[in-house]
Amino acid sequence: MYCNDVMPRSGRSLRFRIKNRSRIFRLLVCKPYEHATCRRYDGFNIMKTYDIAIAGEINLDLILYGLPTEMETERELLAGGFQVTLGGSSAIVAHNAAILGAQVALTSLVGDDDFGRIALDRLHTAGVDVSTIIFDKTIGSGVTVLLPHGERRHILTYPGTISELTIKHLDFNFLSRARHFHLSSLYLQRGLHAGLPGFLRRLKEAGTTISLDTNDDPADHWGSPLPEVLSYVDVFLPNEDEMCRMTGRDNLDEAVQTLHVRPAAIVVKRGRRGARVYEGASVTDVAPLNVVPVDTIGAGDSFDAGFLRAWLLSKDLVTCARAGNITGALSTQASGGTEAFRNQNLREAFLRKHQFYDLLGTRETLPTRQTVGSSESH
Ligand SMILES: Nc1ncnc2c1ncn2[C@@H]1O[C@H](COP(=O)(O)OP(=O)(O)O)[C@@H](O)[C@H]1O
Ligand SMILES: [Mg+2]
Repeated sequence: MYCNDVMPRSGRSLRFRIKNRSRIFRLLVCKPYEHATCRRYDGFNIMKTYDIAIAGEINLDLILYGLPTEMETERELLAGGFQVTLGGSSAIVAHNAAILGAQVALTSLVGDDDFGRIALDRLHTAGVDVSTIIFDKTIGSGVTVLLPHGERRHILTYPGTISELTIKHLDFNFLSRARHFHLSSLYLQRGLHAGLPGFLRRLKEAGTTISLDTNDDPADHWGSPLPEVLSYVDVFLPNEDEMCRMTGRDNLDEAVQTLHVRPAAIVVKRGRRGARVYEGASVTDVAPLNVVPVDTIGAGDSFDAGFLRAWLLSKDLVTCARAGNITGALSTQASGGTEAFRNQNLREAFLRKHQFYDLLGTRETLPTRQTVGSSESH
């Protein structure tokens, strides 16, 4: 099966083997990325329809636990623990939403390197359609080094391919096959800015609903294309700190009032305080779960995954936020944003205990595809 209207060119297959992996994935050079620098990923069946399409970033998160907050230079500082997990807000949402039972497709650009292949393997194992992911041979995959210090953390990102994804890489016909389009990390995805509002307008015209989680703006400017993009957004999913900084307000309710372009639904993530839902004139606080986090990396993206799963089952916004609180809290129970979702026993026990499936009116998730290797914990 080949990606949409893209056919492989015979005789130009490339093969690679993932270390310690028994499967061999086949890479085929496809139009329109048949020039020297890019190639498309193939090897898995393309689903005909999707619940959620996501265009965005993939990277690996390298997490070092137990480092001092003040880090002296020229000293050997020892970490107490280390994990490599699938990262990138878009990738985490895609991975976790798929594990929760949604049909998900992710379009992204990754480096033609081991990091890119590990990330892709994780996504495929979770059930994400990765057939439109493109390998770039000239730029390495993005990477984030995270240093958690209790609830605060240092976040150091090398963007690599993250900011190189452009509208040119997006296949409108493919993405518009989804009922919903989710956009994450607006300010890391600088390459997507040119043409993004027009692309979202076309998706809306094609009957696709849209959600946005800006995540942080490293420059803290919160400028274009946010206002233009917000006019196409059905559900806006920032966290409290981002909401306040993007509007220059200290108070959350004031911040929401200050937004010039206000989507119909605004759901603000508030860490250990749960979420606040703004819908028309009504404001509802949705209580968090009482958990002791391992780390809170990716909790917001995991919230988005649970929220969208419920939203696409036509649940009301408060129920969706309750679902998000459950999946956000689940994420905190293991390293990074995806490890708790990959651990089937942990995940299913947690979701059952907090009545996630009763809330959604769905059955438990199916086991994920055969897990290829285990997490790279040390
Ligand atoms: N300490 C915690 N206790 C319970 N739930 C949490 C905790 N931290 C995060 N969550 C859940 O994860 C969601 C997202 O976390 P938050 O830190 O606000 O987002 P982000 O990762 O975008 O900064 C919260 O709204 C909440 O549902
Ligand atoms: Mg976030």
